[in-house]
Amino acid sequence: MAVVTVDNPPVNALSQAVRAGLVAALAETEADADVRAVVLACAGRTFVAGADIAELGRPPVEPHLPDVILAIEGATKPWVAAIHGSALGGGLELALACRWRVADAAARLGLPEVSLGLIPGAGGTVRLPRLIAPVEALAMIAGGKPVGALRAAELGLVDEVAEGDLVGAAVAFAEGALARDLPAPLAARPPLGEADADFEAAAAVTLAKARGQAAPVEAVAAVRDALTLDFTAALAAERRRFLALRDGPQSKALRHVFAAERGGGRRPTGPLLPTDVIGVVGGGTMGAGIATACLLAGREVVLVERDDEALARGMASVRGNLDGSLKRGVLDAAGHAAALARLTGATDYAALGRADLVIEAVFEDLEVKAAVFAALDAATRPEAILATNTSYLDVDRIAAMVRDPGRVVGLHFFAPAHVMKLVEVVRPAAVRPEVFETATAFARSLGKTPVESGVCDGFIGNRILTRYRQAMDILLLEGALPWEVDAAMEGFGMAMGPYAVQDLSGLEIAWAGRRRMDVRARDDWRYVPIADRMVEEARRLGRKSGAGWYDYAGGRPAPAPAVEALILDVAAQAGVARRPVGAAEIRDRALAAMVQEAARLLEEGIAARASDVDLVLIHGYGFPRWRGGPLHWAEAKGLPEVVGMIDGLAAGDPRTWQAPPLLRRFAAEGRGFAS
Ligand code: COA
Repeated sequence: MAVVTVDNPPVNALSQAVRAGLVAALAETEADADVRAVVLACAGRTFVAGADIAELGRPPVEPHLPDVILAIEGATKPWVAAIHGSALGGGLELALACRWRVADAAARLGLPEVSLGLIPGAGGTVRLPRLIAPVEALAMIAGGKPVGALRAAELGLVDEVAEGDLVGAAVAFAEGALARDLPAPLAARPPLGEADADFEAAAAVTLAKARGQAAPVEAVAAVRDALTLDFTAALAAERRRFLALRDGPQSKALRHVFAAERGGGRRPTGPLLPTDVIGVVGGGTMGAGIATACLLAGREVVLVERDDEALARGMASVRGNLDGSLKRGVLDAAGHAAALARLTGATDYAALGRADLVIEAVFEDLEVKAAVFAALDAATRPEAILATNTSYLDVDRIAAMVRDPGRVVGLHFFAPAHVMKLVEVVRPAAVRPEVFETATAFARSLGKTPVESGVCDGFIGNRILTRYRQAMDILLLEGALPWEVDAAMEGFGMAMGPYAVQDLSGLEIAWAGRRRMDVRARDDWRYVPIADRMVEEARRLGRKSGAGWYDYAGGRPAPAPAVEALILDVAAQAGVARRPVGAAEIRDRALAAMVQEAARLLEEGIAARASDVDLVLIHGYGFPRWRGGPLHWAEAKGLPEVVGMIDGLAAGDPRTWQAPPLLRRFAAEGRGFAS
């Protein structure tokens, strides 16, 4: 029994050296008369987690993975994969070349390529439906979600689930299997079914959900090929589809986001502070959501409210959130009970004396926050971190309210905080590095995507949102209608259009923001009174008031004639002759507005990296992941073209549009944001 071990940390990706090593191991084991079977195992934390993502952007080098896999599958000595950790993408394709698969009980197996805008390119779509039911294969390939070892065994993907010594179990399994008839390699087996009605129904659901994404569509086509063409033809068709996707814009965008989320290897530079006991001040929607997120991540939480009644409401919302997590399967019954047991409530700040980190989520008012921070200063241990969840107040001023401003940081969550992935970690001038790094690591440990932001009104996300909305309001004046704008942006892939979103969150929030920014008096702001009149005159505040940019008779949003009349009135008063505005123009203006503000954020150092801006829009604002974020979009389109677009707009409206010098310089130098 030969054991071949892949050892390529951190995740045993199939880089060129690994592929070459596998070919060499194959030659050696084939040549060795003593070897009867080969166990393929991995060192370190995981089985092969896929192709080397870094190599995908470079010209491929031999040996190519499909050839390595064909060779292993064709070996005269059967191979058995011993899977621990994750067998993903090329890793699972490699395991499919083996005659059997033995998996550790905690292992996960999957073909997540669609989440990188790809499909499996080394036979995964062709072999999997020859091992498990085609409709299950389709779910794994087009959905991209890995399955656990036990489920994999039910599906027939895994032959044995092992407890304890995995390689030993795989060797023993092979010994036993050799005594029986050798199963045919998957290449020589027929698919386990046809493209029947169930398959077509699942395919139709996948296609309907794709909404402009190419990879799920190609995944469906590839599995259908596997069921209808012969093995070799299906393999060739899969490879063609894979290569086209790999070189296309969507996969490039998704790989950019994958790298951005991992932070380009950013690591804390020193030891971190503890974050085991978390205080949350304020039990409203935000506070309850933050408390829930902490409980879901195994933290102990002390929720503080100002009186018993408010506390009871806050505790009830946390319980409601946890119940929801139980229903959605995020938690099991034991986890739910344990989370509740880690939650306590109090109306006295003294209860925060044990807290390692306190997150303030009270009403957005500097005086209210000042009182809270003064109380926290007195009640908490001097080394505890104090965080504010403010979405626009000056975090430097909040920090100045405690004796040691070095322990104050911003943690800006997005509602619902136990669901939304984005957390802006706001860096006040006085914060100590270990406090900032701990806050960032803490957010990551909640399963969030933390993004660093400097201090300014709105931080990264809301500053861009404000300019995006302003640009859209100007388009309303020029000729578009809110539902046309929403349809255009949803067509681009945004989760919701900007007007539908405002109706959901309430128009008075942005209204208050415009007053705070005094937009009527600003030189760099072309003021359009539509949104203010919606609030001040029409009292259309959004869904909760029964009417906003849309009418809600019967609960469903419908275009509102009163809003159209208001827009026409504003245009008439301003002497603007409205004209038809198409979806492409709406989309380009929206993107230009986002990119312009994003470039300013980079210039000002509020955003540290272009990819951070992309993460903010994707994880907090419904920007389509497969478009890579606004700055990736700009780079893919070509910065000179984007500058040209902004210059063109500036000719007609110089107050709103002005290409930031950084953008102009990058365009002129022909460079991208990352270089
Ligand atoms: N190729 C190259 N590098 C990879 C990689 C791959 N397929 N998968 C992960 N890595 C790198 C990460 O970039 C990260 O590098 P860093 O430490 O320099 O930031 C490191 O491996 C650890 O990954 P991370 O995601 O932080 O660890 P994790 O334990 O949370 O998750 C995985 C591990 C394997 C589950 C996860 O990385 C993953 O899903 N990877 C992608 C798998 C995939 O899509 N494979 C198909 C490729 S076509």
